[in-house]
Amino acid sequence: MAEIGKDIIRAKSLLEAGKLVGIPTETVYGLAGNALNPDAVASIFETKKRPSFDPLIIHSDSMEKIKRWVLEIPEKLKILADEFWPGPLTLLLPREAIVPDLVTSGLDRVAVRILSHPLTLELLKSLEFPLAAPSANPFGYISPTRPEHVQKQLGDQIPYILDGGACKVGLESTIVGIEDEQIFIYRLGGLDVREIEALVGPVQIKTHSSSNPAAPGLLESHYAPTKPFILGDLDQLIQDHQNKKVRMGILSLQRTFSNLPIESQMILSEKGDLKEAAQNLFAAMRALDEQDLDLILAERMPDHGLGKAINDRLNRAAAK
Ligand code: TXA
Ligand code: MG
Repeated sequence: MAEIGKDIIRAKSLLEAGKLVGIPTETVYGLAGNALNPDAVASIFETKKRPSFDPLIIHSDSMEKIKRWVLEIPEKLKILADEFWPGPLTLLLPREAIVPDLVTSGLDRVAVRILSHPLTLELLKSLEFPLAAPSANPFGYISPTRPEHVQKQLGDQIPYILDGGACKVGLESTIVGIEDEQIFIYRLGGLDVREIEALVGPVQIKTHSSSNPAAPGLLESHYAPTKPFILGDLDQLIQDHQNKKVRMGILSLQRTFSNLPIESQMILSEKGDLKEAAQNLFAAMRALDEQDLDLILAERMPDHGLGKAINDRLNRAAAK
């Protein structure tokens, strides 16, 4: 099993030796390896059982370093970087040849992010290379937001997990790029779209389809529990299943249901706060998935702010 600890020197020397390390970020935990070492990158794909057509985000601690790996940063994206880095923003930028094909799945753009977590930023400062890091879950499963989640699923395949506690944002980064002067969002995430629009004007959202060549990772079914996961009106869903002798798990924003066992009900935020709901989402989905239940019933969030990104995850979890 992987060791869990706060030893940055240990993490650094493992990464320099081409090994993989679980790293905390403010969004979700990553499965990190040296992005400039094709063998390390290949073992990321192997460990996650991730198809190689799904490219990886590279992570750094500074703009100076990023300039070595990209050809340019378009003006409007630079505005976003200046405002939101370090933070839950990923930019698609034209890549330098030094970035291995495997990282970008052969695409011309590489996904780049300066993340915000003190421990991982310190680690990155000590490294000469960027870290390629997908979320540290087996491909298609729920993303990890605590070191134990990584341990449970990938712990027997990696030597070390840096312990940075629970993730503060809880949803993956928002992915942004530009095509012919138009800003696109390729994945809704921890950064509210309205905050982006306030700086660079209207954006277009392009997150659908399993065959979108610009973001091949945005598959219809993703973030999925192993149990049947049904999304809709909870009162109706509960009524529909009540007499069928099935054990139901409930994922709701604020409400509990008095006619159902309380331990199989997960509330995302008692106050109905969408930031708090985002923080709790993946841990709650996992907790339900690990209980002895036949299915999980969930409701959509209000469709604004982070609610949009949460709904995106819920929709993909429910798609089969
Ligand atoms: O918050 C996050 O972004 C986390 C933490 C660890 O940084 N990382 C993460 O990585 O969510 P991953 O691999 O689980 O999701 C990355 C997404 C995938 O959907 C992938 O297809 C897309 O980013 N992506 C990566 N590189 C791309 C590229 N060059 N062009 C288009 N999409 C890209
Ligand atoms: Mg992922």
